[in-house]
Amino acid sequence: MAETISSFLTKDHRACDEVFAQMENEVASENWANANKKFEEFRGDLEHHFNMEEQVMFPAFEQQTGMMGGPTAMMRMEHEQMRNVVEQMKKDLDEKNKNHFFGLSESLMMIIQQHNMKEEQMLYAMADNHLGASSAQVVQKMKELER
Ligand SMILES: [Fe+2]
Ligand SMILES: [Fe+2]
Repeated sequence: MAETISSFLTKDHRACDEVFAQMENEVASENWANANKKFEEFRGDLEHHFNMEEQVMFPAFEQQTGMMGGPTAMMRMEHEQMRNVVEQMKKDLDEKNKNHFFGLSESLMMIIQQHNMKEEQMLYAMADNHLGASSAQVVQKMKELER
């Protein structure tokens, strides 16, 4: 079966979740060197995911539908919100502040899950529907985006 925007990006959500969980495990056991490595991996994966959406998928959706201030604008705002929390988590890692880190990581997880649900249940499906046959090219362009 052909890959869709929905299947491709949903799979990437799961991959980011997995690295996030590994990062939390390293922090829980206070393996700070590994925690930092996993943090960098998570931040890189998340940023790459956001870039695939912001630089490829959202513009394709906006161009096709003419909807500039709709769901994609909201998703871009939520990305910024998540980027801010991630940067604060970095500070906690530097200070080895486990409790504060977990306060942030818990709220980040909640924001991510709500964000991903909106994308998976609404935006990705809309994008596949509106883009029709060209959604395959959008997936291809996302795959070609540098990390
Ligand atoms: Fe997103
Ligand atoms: Fe996403």
